Amino acid sequence: MPNKVAFNENYPDITESDKLYQRAKPIMKPVTQTLAKGPGQYINGVAPKYLKKGKGARVWDVDGNEYLDYNMAIGPLSLGYAYPRIDEAIVAQLKDGITFSMMHELEVEFAELIHKVIPNAEAIRISKTGADVTSAAVRVARAFTGRNKVLCCGYHGWHDWYISVTSRNSGIPAAVKDLSATIDYNNIESVKEALDADTACVILEPFVFEAPKEGFLKELKALCEANGTLLIFDEMWTGFRIAVGGAQEYFGVKADLACYSKAFANGMPIALLTGRRDVMELFEEEVFFFTTFGGEALSLAAAVATINEMIEKNVPAYLASQGKKLKDGYNAIAEELGIASYTRCTGYDCRSLVSFDAAAGNPLEVKSYVQQDLIKRGILWSGFHNMSFSHTGEDVAYTLAAYREVLGLLKEAVTAGDVAARLKGKPVEAVFRKVSNFNTKPVAKI
Ligand SMILES: Cc1ncc(COP(=O)(O)O)c(C=O)c1O
Repeated sequence: MPNKVAFNENYPDITESDKLYQRAKPIMKPVTQTLAKGPGQYINGVAPKYLKKGKGARVWDVDGNEYLDYNMAIGPLSLGYAYPRIDEAIVAQLKDGITFSMMHELEVEFAELIHKVIPNAEAIRISKTGADVTSAAVRVARAFTGRNKVLCCGYHGWHDWYISVTSRNSGIPAAVKDLSATIDYNNIESVKEALDADTACVILEPFVFEAPKEGFLKELKALCEANGTLLIFDEMWTGFRIAVGGAQEYFGVKADLACYSKAFANGMPIALLTGRRDVMELFEEEVFFFTTFGGEALSLAAAVATINEMIEKNVPAYLASQGKKLKDGYNAIAEELGIASYTRCTGYDCRSLVSFDAAAGNPLEVKSYVQQDLIKRGILWSGFHNMSFSHTGEDVAYTLAAYREVLGLLKEAVTAGDVAARLKGKPVEAVFRKVSNFNTKPVAKI
């Protein structure tokens, strides 16, 4: 019998997952299209590798095991899997066609909605992926300012201008690498030192898990403005989640350009670039940014339905309230068990992160140990609580009961000093060898 979301006796049977993996390995390089969904992020030998279907906040793997999902497709499932209103909108559009020979009326409907709900969306471009819109933002910022250099912070997608600042930068010409550098989040002095007369833009996530220091975003904006540099918010995670209008609405700070994807179409592939009309106008002629599937109508139908649902049901408030119960509950259990010195849950309520200090042992082994025993209890987890509108109060209560058991086991293992020996498979890997504080400027000013 496959496992359920329950205190199962055994780890799940993952025979069919492993068979698919063996078929994929010789011909798929690598087997995954998204690192965070790949086998490296899950304890190998215990965790399933392939999912088959989802409903609400639950997913089923190819062996029929059921899990409560806290990854939610790495962000996009903000409402939940197979959410009726969104699926109905997609099906209704499907009957009329997917993608067309001319512009589609939904492009205008969607743009008007965005103009209304996103602060400073004076002009709008639609595309497909997060990397599309961050790259378009950087290109238009370079064109508008007549400058070359980019300062960034966090992850912004697979294109050359960004990946050049990471340790996986093979295949990128040195001339491109020399133009991008990273700054320290929440360190206004590092930005002051890095900005120079050739800095076209600063692009950053308004926050990841750490909150911005009082005034940081406003000071950053003022600093960029004084230097003639454009400020770009990468709102892949913050947009439509911390507030429908994202971090610009939540913190009351205006970026020159803002990029969105993930949360606003409940799983359909669509991305959005918004910002100042005078900057975006360059896309009319000088700056090229077009793609065949840019106006694809199923995603637009899903986006309009998702955003309307978010507004009508005040989804960001729900994500925050459920996420807060989980975050506070986790920290209370860690306190009770006397292990808060090495594990805690941090971040904003809508999306929080569980972390383990080196005091508990190798953090990847510790994470793997917690993951394997949550998987046994029907919880698909890789350290995050990506909350959705389908995570119920009962789901949160069940998760906390599972944490209570699993953290109790962790305490025993840490006290015995044998976490690694208790692992039933190969531990998880780091997503990137290095993405932050890498190629930081100004070590040597470019
Ligand atoms: C903050 C941020 N920016 C950009 C991207 C790139 O988006 P995509 O993978 O859709 O290209 C991601 C993807 O995870 C992201 O988290």
